[in-house]
Amino acid sequence: LTVLLIHSFGEILIMGTFCKHQGTHPPLKPAVLKPIIILDSGSGGLTVFDEITRIMPWLPVVYCADNGGFPYGPKSEQEVTERVCQLLDSLYTRYDPALVVVACNTASTIVLNAVRALLPIPVVGVVPAIKTAATLSRNRCIGLLATPGTVNRAYTDQLIQDFASDCEVIRVGSTELVHLAERVFRGESVDIARFEQILAPFKEAHLQPDHIVLGCTHFPLVRQKLSMCLPKVVFVDSGEAIARRVLSILKDQQALRVPEFNTNYEKPIFIAHLTAKDDNQAGFVAAIAPRGFQRVSVL
Ligand code: DGL
Repeated sequence: LTVLLIHSFGEILIMGTFCKHQGTHPPLKPAVLKPIIILDSGSGGLTVFDEITRIMPWLPVVYCADNGGFPYGPKSEQEVTERVCQLLDSLYTRYDPALVVVACNTASTIVLNAVRALLPIPVVGVVPAIKTAATLSRNRCIGLLATPGTVNRAYTDQLIQDFASDCEVIRVGSTELVHLAERVFRGESVDIARFEQILAPFKEAHLQPDHIVLGCTHFPLVRQKLSMCLPKVVFVDSGEAIARRVLSILKDQQALRVPEFNTNYEKPIFIAHLTAKDDNQAGFVAAIAPRGFQRVSVL
């Protein structure tokens, strides 16, 4: 029983599991494992990348940080839709991916229908883990920490109505926290007082949430700092759920011929693209390199 892995440009060909040819059954056909694309306005989607590569360490990934459009939060819905559609269209043509993950809550609340209409492949979005937090909450008070856009969107109202109607939900929207997360990611020092101030509405509430949803993919990058400010709170994100969804779609597409936890794989290709020159490119590269990215380039 042998699994052959052959690298070619941006994709890995898995030549199938070759059993001894028996009787009239033909050998398994080679399955082509295409890359997936993960897109965010910056480094936040790497928290989703981490979960995806944890359960599928053999999966090739093209990561796109649209730092040229960062941050998405304050932008109009039309602007975000146009940017994301244009970018994904060109990445689709370039990489022929199996699937796209919009690893950004702000964009997911706006662009999913447009991207699905544009691309003939599965498109996975990120949804704030309101349902999980509401299921786990004991005191029936949960928090939502996201960008101001996500916090105020009708999409979020609907999620709360559907899954947390019996909870008090304290919503805090912060663009500054997205900027702080980018700085922490690049190894820059930030004042913990900034975090304290952003999280103050949770502390000052008459009932403190026991679970807070990290409704922005940037925020797990600063989970430690958030926990330092609110040590009793459990912070919930949707990274792992997204990874499971990706795995299940890829399996359904029958693109996968390797078992979930196969250890017999070659290091896959990870490519990162920025859309503009980064102010601290060295910091970005230093933070992304340990994740196994072989290439970082500006689109
Ligand atoms: N990671 C994005 C999100 O999940 C970032 C927000 C932004 O660019 O404003 O919402």
